Amino acid sequence: MKLIVENTCPTQWRFEYESTDPELENLYELAKTNQWNVSTDINWDRPIQDDCDILARSENALGRSKFFTSLSKEVQHEVMANQAAFTLSQFLHGEQGALLCCGELVNSVPDVEGKLYAATQVMDEARHVEVFHKYLKKLDKSYPITGGLKNVLDAILEAETWQQKCVGMQIMVESIAMGSFKNMLVTAADPLLKDIVTLTARDEARHVAFGIISLQHEIPKMPEEERAALEDFALLGLNILVGRAGDARVPGRSVGFEQPLIDAGLDPKEVVAVLTEERQSNPPPKTEQQPLFQHYLIPNMQRVGLISDRIRPQYEEAGFMAPAA
Ligand SMILES: [Fe+2]
Ligand SMILES: [Fe+2]
Repeated sequence: MKLIVENTCPTQWRFEYESTDPELENLYELAKTNQWNVSTDINWDRPIQDDCDILARSENALGRSKFFTSLSKEVQHEVMANQAAFTLSQFLHGEQGALLCCGELVNSVPDVEGKLYAATQVMDEARHVEVFHKYLKKLDKSYPITGGLKNVLDAILEAETWQQKCVGMQIMVESIAMGSFKNMLVTAADPLLKDIVTLTARDEARHVAFGIISLQHEIPKMPEEERAALEDFALLGLNILVGRAGDARVPGRSVGFEQPLIDAGLDPKEVVAVLTEERQSNPPPKTEQQPLFQHYLIPNMQRVGLISDRIRPQYEEAGFMAPAA
């Protein structure tokens, strides 16, 4: 796996130190007052009670299935524990990606208020790396990064403009992170993990706000050609994320959702087939979590003006959006 990524995005100095953006100034103040410490603000003395139920099985499509209850208690335990470790490992790797990307934003965003705010986010992401690493160590189980996640983070790190980095990290990755943490607040059954996710989600909400404030001002000012290139970059990012585009730096499924199942001795193809059959005969409850794209990502992309009439048909064709009525 590639560990070195070339960065050609220019670093910008700015000597106008006076802020001209009250919204970003407020966000910077909020970031300074809401800092927390992984070592002292979380009670780490609590043991993880049962690693198979860190994430409630009632909220998991597999955990609710008849197929799952037909498995032995030992296999059920292993599947749930592996899936939790897999999900939390992706959070850890994603947090490192956010740390690296946000460090680049300090250099590349043009205004001083943006640089100061991004500096607070660098500390936030460092804390998130620390907290998920510490929790996974307690769990004593972890997984490598998935190909899709590594590829999209590399595409953002290699992006040539600050606007692309801001779209990729602050809108796309942060919206998905925000949605994932909100979902995890419901699914986390371990009190220690719930505390971690509550504190982390509070930081992530600021990070999305930074992206929205910065790009809402920037995108309307961009020349038509540059704006179209930014829209194309965003759509490419989505396709990379779902494994439909990008080069083969890391195969999209090098380590995917199936690995936790394989590690528990199950055949992922068989599991998918059984679950699909069960879903058809017994549709999931309406309260089941909605996809992250539809609830968090696409609305934020629309808010900053990334889905123009020119590009919308491509979103519809790819199934990221429903056709306009
Ligand atoms: Fe984070
Ligand atoms: Fe973040």
